[in-house]
Amino acid sequence: MKILSGIQPSGTLHIGNYFGMMRQMIRYQKEHTLFCFIVNYHALTSVTDGPRLAADTLSAAADFLALGLDPAKCFFWVQGDVPEVTELTWILSNVTPMGLLERAHSYKDKIAKGIAPNHGLFAYPVLMAADILLYQADRVPVGKDQKQHLEMTRDIAIRFNYLYGDTFVVPEAEIDDDLAVIPGIDGQKMSKSYGNTIDIFEDEAELKKKVMSVVTDSRGVQEVKDPDTDNLFALISLFMTADERAELKARYLAPGLKYSEVKKDLARRIWEYFTPYREKRAALVARPDDIRDILKKGAEKTRAEAVKTLDVVMKKVGLVY
Ligand code: ADP
Ligand code: TRP
Repeated sequence: MKILSGIQPSGTLHIGNYFGMMRQMIRYQKEHTLFCFIVNYHALTSVTDGPRLAADTLSAAADFLALGLDPAKCFFWVQGDVPEVTELTWILSNVTPMGLLERAHSYKDKIAKGIAPNHGLFAYPVLMAADILLYQADRVPVGKDQKQHLEMTRDIAIRFNYLYGDTFVVPEAEIDDDLAVIPGIDGQKMSKSYGNTIDIFEDEAELKKKVMSVVTDSRGVQEVKDPDTDNLFALISLFMTADERAELKARYLAPGLKYSEVKKDLARRIWEYFTPYREKRAALVARPDDIRDILKKGAEKTRAEAVKTLDVVMKKVGLVY
């Protein structure tokens, strides 16, 4: 089974990204053919600060490597280092109806938020389809917000296959409905674009500060509390065993619980959870050329796969003469 997913380097990676995506990817490398990549071309649709994009790309790579992604066991690369993806994007653009792109929620939402639309933002789903189809991925684990993009990828693949004969694997989205959306410190979905994140590799003082600012309701110590609606409970649950969670739940349902105590416990747990990886990350970050080297090798290995598909596609559409 070929599994593929990507993450944008449009900021530093946070614990929502970790529990929502990175941890699964790191697990999949053991039993599947895994394609895991950093989508810097997509990030261009929202980031206009070049040096920052470059730094965040390296930082995202360091995060994945420190957390256990093994480039020898999977395909790990930066999207823009495999230029075949933009060639395929152009070819796919010609089998993508305008109406399909005009219906994209993510595009419409961004425009509604006042973002000036440009062609990159509009064509974003075609680039994403090329990302997936180029490697003939069977399954694509994504968050709920990406469901429509996956449907568009399927539509594009089906249309290409209809016009030119069976070429692309039509991929399945893997959307984990059980995985609750991880809340940020303000209670909205934790997201790089909302400025409400707790980063995976936050420094200790900043981590404590952020955790202490997690929004809760204003119930007093002697009041009974509601674990099902509390952000703090949702966050700390990620770092607890089932027994610990049940015990904390009981404390929420009885008088005497102080949110500030839970916050201290949460900060400690986050810090300890990522401690084994922190040293590895520090060592990687101190040698950015080693990271570049790993990414370059990853891109070479991935390119060999990309070329296989692109060759077939170019012949089918008549670009080889
Ligand atoms: P962000 O919203 O921070 O920009 P992305 O949209 O780049 O994050 O998402 C990258 C991956 O991380 C996706 O697979 C997404 O489903 C997952 N992810 C992001 N935020 C969360 C969250 N708050 N809870 C669960 N998963 C998340
Ligand atoms: N659009 C995805 C997101 O914002 C990132 C992405 C780009 C992606 N290409 C992909 C995800 C291919 C899965 C497969 O989260």
